[in-house]
Amino acid sequence: MSNNIADMTANHFKALFEISEEINSVLNLDTLLSKIMDIAMRALDAERGFIILSREGTQHFQTITARNIDEREVLNSEQFSTSIIRKTFETQEGILSHDALEDERFCDFESVMALKIRSMAAVPLRLRDKFIGVIYVDSIKNRRNFNEKSLHFLEAFANQAALAIENARLYESLQLENRILKRDMEKIFPFNEIIGQSTAMKQVFSLMEKVARTNVTVLIYGESGTGKELVARAIHAHGPRRNNPFVGQYCGALQETLLESELFGHKRGAFTGAVSDKKGLLEIADGGTFFLDEIADISFSLQTELLRVIQEGEIKRVGDTHIRKVDVRFLSATNKNLQEQVKKGLFREDLYYRLNVISIELPPLRERKDDIPLLAEYFLKKYRAKTNPQVTSFSSSALKVIQDYYWPGNVRELENVIQAALVMSDRSKIYPEHLPIYQKARPDEIENLNLSDITNRYVRKALQMHGGNRSKAAQELGVSVRWLQYRLKELED
Ligand SMILES: Nc1ncnc2c1ncn2[C@@H]1O[C@H](COP(=O)(O)OP(=O)(O)OP(=O)(O)O)[C@@H](O)[C@H]1O
Ligand SMILES: [Mg+2]
Repeated sequence: MSNNIADMTANHFKALFEISEEINSVLNLDTLLSKIMDIAMRALDAERGFIILSREGTQHFQTITARNIDEREVLNSEQFSTSIIRKTFETQEGILSHDALEDERFCDFESVMALKIRSMAAVPLRLRDKFIGVIYVDSIKNRRNFNEKSLHFLEAFANQAALAIENARLYESLQLENRILKRDMEKIFPFNEIIGQSTAMKQVFSLMEKVARTNVTVLIYGESGTGKELVARAIHAHGPRRNNPFVGQYCGALQETLLESELFGHKRGAFTGAVSDKKGLLEIADGGTFFLDEIADISFSLQTELLRVIQEGEIKRVGDTHIRKVDVRFLSATNKNLQEQVKKGLFREDLYYRLNVISIELPPLRERKDDIPLLAEYFLKKYRAKTNPQVTSFSSSALKVIQDYYWPGNVRELENVIQAALVMSDRSKIYPEHLPIYQKARPDEIENLNLSDITNRYVRKALQMHGGNRSKAAQELGVSVRWLQYRLKELED
């Protein structure tokens, strides 16, 4: 190219400069292609332009961007000279014609005649030794609109553009990968991360083992925080699909169209804001497992579409007519009684039976009290190093509070309470006053307290109020410091 620099005009340099700017700033492929086209057409004073990209690794090509002089998109993209594009693909060299209608190489090309193309130029988009597409411009008004200079410019321009395109493509595929990684891949749990020795949990484990090896759909029931997602991930991680994606989507209380486009993807222009084609999560999960989290609330029409994916393995992006095949194993979860929803006519019965081939029920924590101390110890070990390494255990009084609490938020609440207690404790153990649930004992529990419990409660409260200052606490309670110290010693265990 260097021997051609002298041929370039100021306009050409400006365009080259502009494109190198875009390389660094525009990362959305569609936007980038439109910009490339606009810059090239302005520099060459062309009336129409197209960028054709070959599908990665293939000889199939598709028009990606087509522009008219007024920078509006040309809707009918068939109106370009396919024969010329094909020739550029074949020869992998730039083509220029000052007067295509008179040019014997092209004059009998149908498109040239039909469109009355006068000047035209087409150059390959090359990336290192890879051929990724073609930039094409033409003019029907002026003969000799383009000359050798135009071609040299366009070749230099195409080199820059190819880099920018590669950049944007890489960025988009990284983004997609990131989207999967962020959501899902980072957490793969073996069963031994699921704590529980109660009879109920042992039954859950044995069921999980059986279903993990299969492709059967499993519905996981349980109150909030009982570990439904944990169980779903573990089923995936122990099955033959473990090396493929686990993709989950929360389906409750989400606007229908948003959920639909997340799940199924959309075609560019399918609705306002759909600026480019987007793969849905179901496509991303191909070969892996899809977790439909909080399934009970989805709309009837989405239920119908889900049924089709589950039965036929077929999806259609929103606004698209093309049907795509996916191979996905489904797991779902809910904290509602789906059967009730079916009876009320809110949930499709056929979908219910499809989802509920096997169901796993996770009992609330208060119904498996044996697991509470195990889980408490587990979370203490898990978080102490990061939060407060000096804390090594629970006082027996704290354990009793934990054991007796009714845990409406189940394991998640227990996990949060232990984390908070680690932050609060300034000693080597966790004591009841460090537990945020300590003040929240239910009225019927207070009735069960004996005098000693009540006294201890007052002692702790007084200490809390005076930041641990024993003489002030003793003063507040109207007792001697000695008595308080005695009481505290008793409280230590
Ligand atoms: N048996 C268990 N052993 C260890 N950790 C658990 C167990 N059950 C739940 N957890 C932990 O409790 C938290 C909540 O679990 P998860 O998100 O799976 O619950 P969920 O049932 O999906 O809750 P929600 O209905 O609110 O979505 C997570 O941090 C999870 O790791
Ligand atoms: Mg959940």
